[in-house]
Amino acid sequence: MSGSKKRVYIKTFGCQMNVYDSAQMANLLHGVGYDEVTTAEDADLVVLNTCHIREKAAEKVYSDLGRLRQIKEARGDHEAPMQIAVAGCVAQAEGAEIKRRAPVVDYVVGPQSYQRLPQMLAGEAETLATDFAVDEKFERLAQKRSQQGPAAFVTVQEGCDKFCSFCVVPYTRGAEHSRSAGQISAEVRALARHGVREVTLLGQNVNAWAATSPNGKGGWGLGQLIRHLAQIDGLDRIRYTTSHPRDMDDNLIAAHGEIDVLMPYLHLPVQSGSNRVLKAMNRGHSMDDYKRIIDKIRRKRPDIALSGDFIVGFPGETNADFEATMQAVRDIGYASAYSFKYSRRPGTPGAKIKDQVPEEIKVERLAILQDLLVTQQIGFNAGLTGRTLPVLFEKPGRHEGQVCGRSPYLQSVFVQGPTSLIGSIQDVDITGAGRNALTGNLSREVVTTA
Ligand code: 5AD
Ligand code: SF4
Repeated sequence: MSGSKKRVYIKTFGCQMNVYDSAQMANLLHGVGYDEVTTAEDADLVVLNTCHIREKAAEKVYSDLGRLRQIKEARGDHEAPMQIAVAGCVAQAEGAEIKRRAPVVDYVVGPQSYQRLPQMLAGEAETLATDFAVDEKFERLAQKRSQQGPAAFVTVQEGCDKFCSFCVVPYTRGAEHSRSAGQISAEVRALARHGVREVTLLGQNVNAWAATSPNGKGGWGLGQLIRHLAQIDGLDRIRYTTSHPRDMDDNLIAAHGEIDVLMPYLHLPVQSGSNRVLKAMNRGHSMDDYKRIIDKIRRKRPDIALSGDFIVGFPGETNADFEATMQAVRDIGYASAYSFKYSRRPGTPGAKIKDQVPEEIKVERLAILQDLLVTQQIGFNAGLTGRTLPVLFEKPGRHEGQVCGRSPYLQSVFVQGPTSLIGSIQDVDITGAGRNALTGNLSREVVTTA
């Protein structure tokens, strides 16, 4: 072991892809002598893994950098100096501009080049890397993974070619790229050997995943990949996120009815219920297309928990367009959802549209929409009381003597029980439901060997 252990603090903004990337960076840095700590004050290296999707998220990085500058400058001569790295999508989008705006930053690494961070720290690589070296990244990261906890994320696909007119992702994450089936299956097998019971397959457009089958004899989509992974010993649950309606093919839909370990939960953003707005957003599907997909899925898996993303106040959105979104939500019924005010992103086609919606209208529409979505979410959760659900326990609960896990429908479930339950799946009688979580009792006395 090296005599001088260093400490890294990684702060993650944004989506699950960033959560995964942060875990990978922690691993990589661990390999060169860094232990993870939970505050910037304690750290020799601070990594901000940033998000560029909406203006607020991007601006937060600069306010954090302001705070870090104070900590860095307050370090006495006898203390180790602090180094600062900006990673993620702001790094990709702004590159060298970050160092100009915040000279306190030492390193800038995009989401496809953070594998170079150890060399940068050793002075062996340029301090700015924003190229799209996806293959290099996955090769370098494969085999390096350590895992804590029974549920893990596995990136299977990155990037996006859809170019929705509001979105920066095609610019920050680059073109669609799928990892090979062999590489993914090796990673999942290794995780399962280390006690992982659930994997969530990640991608900006995860259901656009496409690759040749492991025997090289044909093309596979996400449905086939899931069927393949479902056979791995010890793997009890598979999820995937985020999907695009255009890539929801019949094989994947059928998998929801056929594969037990594929959990009954689907995040399928529609963004708007108005065909006119969907067209202006360049979504490539109509509201009818979306409803047809949902009908097909519900025929295969009637209890599926649906989730989505919505944007209110896209340029040109009228009251009638907004009402169409409300009607779509009423018609479809969501178990959970994310909703946002449109945020104008420089460089995207949406930013150039003249007819921007005033902020106060966006605020009002968002409140009305969220009211409906929250009501539906509470209703979905309440509908599960009285049922018995298998829960994968992941961590201690908020209160003494409590453990917390997830239902098949992805809600958190809190029960009284020993922490030795963590890592196991147990039946739970659901007795209570709130907005975000369920409570219940273990269906039978569980004998565990602690
Ligand atoms: N403004 C508001 N919301 C956005 N999203 C993406 N870009 C924007 C934007 N410019 C939302 C979409 C997407 C989710 C990840 O973030 O709903 O599905
Ligand atoms: Fe952005 Fe649209 Fe691609 Fe999703 S599908 S990442 S919203 S461009």
